[in-house]
Amino acid sequence: MTDEDADRDEAKRIADLREQLNHHIVLYHEKDDPEISDEEYDNLYAELQRLEAKHPELITGDSPTQRVGSAPSTSFAPVEHAIPMLSLANARTEEELTSWETRIRNHLIRRDVDPGQLTYVTEPKIDGLAISLTYENGKLVQGATRGNGRVGEDVTANIETIEALPKEIEGAPALIEVRGEVYLPIADFAALNQKRVDAGLPAFANPRNSAAGSIRQVDPKAAAERPLAVWSYGIGAVDGISFESHSEEMSWLRDHGFQVNPDIAVHDSIEAVLERCHWWLDRRDELDFEIDGVVIKVDTIGLWNELGVAGREPRWAIAWKFPPTTATTKLLDIVWNVGRTGHMVPFAMLDPVRVGGVTVSTATLHNEEDLARKDVRAGDEVVVLRAGDVIPQVVSALPQKRPEGAQKPVPPKVCPACGTDVVKPEDSVFSICPNRAGCPGQIFQHIKHFVSRGAMDIEGIGEKQVARFLEEGLISDVADLYDLRQEQLQELDRMGETSSANLIAEIDKSREVPFPRVLFALGLIGVGSVTAEVLADEFGSIEALREADPERIEQTEGIGPIMAQQVAESLSDDRTWAMIERLKAAGLKLELSEDERRPEGGPLEGKTVVLTGTLPDLTRDEAGAMVKRAGGKVTGSVSKKTDYVIAGESAGSKLEKAEKLGVPVLDREGLDRLLAGELPAD
Ligand code: IVH
Repeated sequence: MTDEDADRDEAKRIADLREQLNHHIVLYHEKDDPEISDEEYDNLYAELQRLEAKHPELITGDSPTQRVGSAPSTSFAPVEHAIPMLSLANARTEEELTSWETRIRNHLIRRDVDPGQLTYVTEPKIDGLAISLTYENGKLVQGATRGNGRVGEDVTANIETIEALPKEIEGAPALIEVRGEVYLPIADFAALNQKRVDAGLPAFANPRNSAAGSIRQVDPKAAAERPLAVWSYGIGAVDGISFESHSEEMSWLRDHGFQVNPDIAVHDSIEAVLERCHWWLDRRDELDFEIDGVVIKVDTIGLWNELGVAGREPRWAIAWKFPPTTATTKLLDIVWNVGRTGHMVPFAMLDPVRVGGVTVSTATLHNEEDLARKDVRAGDEVVVLRAGDVIPQVVSALPQKRPEGAQKPVPPKVCPACGTDVVKPEDSVFSICPNRAGCPGQIFQHIKHFVSRGAMDIEGIGEKQVARFLEEGLISDVADLYDLRQEQLQELDRMGETSSANLIAEIDKSREVPFPRVLFALGLIGVGSVTAEVLADEFGSIEALREADPERIEQTEGIGPIMAQQVAESLSDDRTWAMIERLKAAGLKLELSEDERRPEGGPLEGKTVVLTGTLPDLTRDEAGAMVKRAGGKVTGSVSKKTDYVIAGESAGSKLEKAEKLGVPVLDREGLDRLLAGELPAD
């Protein structure tokens, strides 16, 4: 090939890369629905950067390397940023980080600035959505997205719904623009996705997309329903105050009510920076927010101007990127697992792939309807997401890479564990194996759930041990765990005297687990940990719950007719009840203890109270404790089952709802009258 031919090929490749990147930028930034992993995107981007460096004559102003993010959408008014919102260069290896330090030192020397000892600030790189918050004379006047870095979108109405964000700051200068990252805590992200999947909506690929989707909701009410939070990481335009260092900026923000990450640190060498990067990597899975790296900034602001900006990236900062939490791989097969309550859960068997530093070979596909909606098929290239320590999930398939003849998956007609014909209830997104007590698949899942954290929390017994005990015939249900003897365990290979003794001690300890958790551990259909708690509180014992008919159970706050029916049915099943009796005989707590019980005969016995707003002399917890001591129940939301609402200062939607439903609303004095037994007439 002649040089000319090679140049022509590279020019074509540049055009091709730009087209591909533009397509993915729209999906990522505007539709919040990416179809390739961050790493694949970064690779395309890096290839384009490399080719453009080789052919600077081909660089155009609209190349993705010359712009930040995407064009602002037309749903929101445009906002011109007083100071551009920049992007960050990436370092993926230690060498890339140390050569960054060399580069900036040389740059300063060339400009006759003595770099001396540089100090650096390290911060988590939050995987959310960049936001700019303008405060004039201490009042929040505008919230804007980054957009293309120069012009963003006015999302003030949505930003105002973020509770944790100060709307007014005391002792503020005439103008200050706070910059930070909006994010959705991982737990809330998981809950939100579950709700979306249940409602038949597509799941968000990751917390970042859901945060971005929320902030760019056209209806602020929809944004308000998502518990968004903000980590502040910088200051943009400012008038009336100045800062010498970035760490000083961070302290100012912290002192003025902004959330600033408490683990931000200052270092005086790049070695210390590197150590901190690894420290963050190790903690990544324990955090309640997604981070995709560590941002390193030169602390001295005076040097920022000297170092300047290259393209769209400042030289004074760099992002040390973690291995990505999404990756693409081939889906080899779809298998169906029987869940604890007989639900058929589709799982993806994957060509093993590294995601977020861990090798993943299976991932959940949620349920058959989600699977059908995403149209994922065996043989597809798929995007896999791993967030925190939740089960990895398949986010989407890349149909453009689908092999010919790939078939749509079909849910099983018979249970793969026991061969019983499955049923598909009309209102369920799952097919179900109805052989509840006899299906080995369900028994296995049930025991696994029983011993898990949050339930009986029996340390030392996990999935592997449960499988082994079942295989060896040591147990056939959860009650058998309490009949295990140390000699039996010791006979298993690889189990010595100490570990078998420890296991027996752990099982023994679980006899002290309080009733609400035992109720949850029983794994009755539909009874999660929250439901178990309200049922335990309402009925006090498993016997009382068993005697209650569905109508009575339904009177419990938060329990609907379907769940009430399911609970009553489960407890009237002879085999389930026989197992419960054996657990009781083994000494498990199947009722509340005296001091866990609401006192009988109190003035508020049988009454449900909701507290809202601020009371003049009591915190919500103190008032709640007083209601409980009087025999009443405190719940979080107003419904037809609520007897009284106690409303303090600035009560909001709960008060409105009470008024709409005609629930009596009382003030602080009203609470005292209730506690004294002077109940208002119904
Ligand atoms: S500093 C010029 N600090 O990463 C400095 N950015 O890739 C740019 N980000 O647009 C911002 N955590 O959305 C900075 N601690 C942090 C950050 C952070 C996340 C995001 C931000 C920015 C993007 C750049």
